Amino acid sequence: MPEAPEKNLALDIVRITEAAALASARWLGRGDKIAGDHAAVQAMRVGFSTLNIDGTVVIGEGEKDNAPMLANGEKVGRGGDLALDVAVDPVEGTNLLAYGRPNAISVIAVSPQGSMFNPGPSFYMQKLVVGSEARDVVDIDAPIRANLKNVAKALGKSVQDLVVFVLDKPRHQRLIEEIREAGARIQLQTDGDVIGALMAVDPRSEVDIMMGTGGTPEGVLSACAIKGLGGQILARLDPQSYVEKETINEAGIDLREVLTVNNLVRSEDCFFAATGISGGDFLRGVRYSTGHAVTHSLVLRGKTGTLRYVESYHNMDRLSKFSAVQY
Ligand code: FBP
Repeated sequence: MPEAPEKNLALDIVRITEAAALASARWLGRGDKIAGDHAAVQAMRVGFSTLNIDGTVVIGEGEKDNAPMLANGEKVGRGGDLALDVAVDPVEGTNLLAYGRPNAISVIAVSPQGSMFNPGPSFYMQKLVVGSEARDVVDIDAPIRANLKNVAKALGKSVQDLVVFVLDKPRHQRLIEEIREAGARIQLQTDGDVIGALMAVDPRSEVDIMMGTGGTPEGVLSACAIKGLGGQILARLDPQSYVEKETINEAGIDLREVLTVNNLVRSEDCFFAATGISGGDFLRGVRYSTGHAVTHSLVLRGKTGTLRYVESYHNMDRLSKFSAVQY
């Protein structure tokens, strides 16, 4: 049955990631990750209050870092018939923002109520992310070398041509050694594995695959974008402390289960928006000039796979006269 186009919620949520980016980018390089995050959270709260949605925050950043929260379970939106799961990361890469490094972004994803994976007490997740051409050739339990060989073949490259995005963390020492031994190249970044996942699935970026352990909330957020772009994420909860492991076990969650993009977001009807805060290769950061600011965002609709890049020119003089957000 042919369908008329539905409302593209990504175009609503991108206004909120833009507002969060505009508010938090004032903190670029100022060494205060709490203040930068707080500014973004406040802007997001105001932004959600304008939407006619009955949203519940399923992925709220903050608990791990004791950051100001859009807390899990918090209701967002004005209410109405549109019941949604909401995933937010007001500043993905709080240290990137605080230390003026590239690739801090503001992110929101939404999907129908009950369709997003709930991380429960899990903070960390092992992830393997690839784009659509390699989506059927990866296996999270296979040796690194075998995955790289299969991905290279699927992309029509040699393993030496591949670039693997890895977070630069002590826990990845062995992973990094194995990638190097296999002959692939590595893009090591201190933070920001949502951008890493986006780059792995976007054929225009030089990154071909993302590997390693990062935040569980970031994994679910990434899955909403991966779904839109047709790639794959294979993931498994990977607790990094005894307490985290015990809490997950007590909650009856199976640590061996392999999650795919369709387990992490169980609906095609998902929407994703990200706005650059600090400039990177993938999304440009906020640029302020007298009376104006420019933002650069990516907007995705899961069902159609439509990807939009949005460059917005904000008249800060006018906005500052009435906006409830502190820019
Ligand atoms: P924050 O914005 O919460 O600081 O997250 C940044 C990040 O690098 C994520 O991209 C990643 O998933 C997670 O932290 C990894 O956590 P950790 O830095 O504790 O290893």
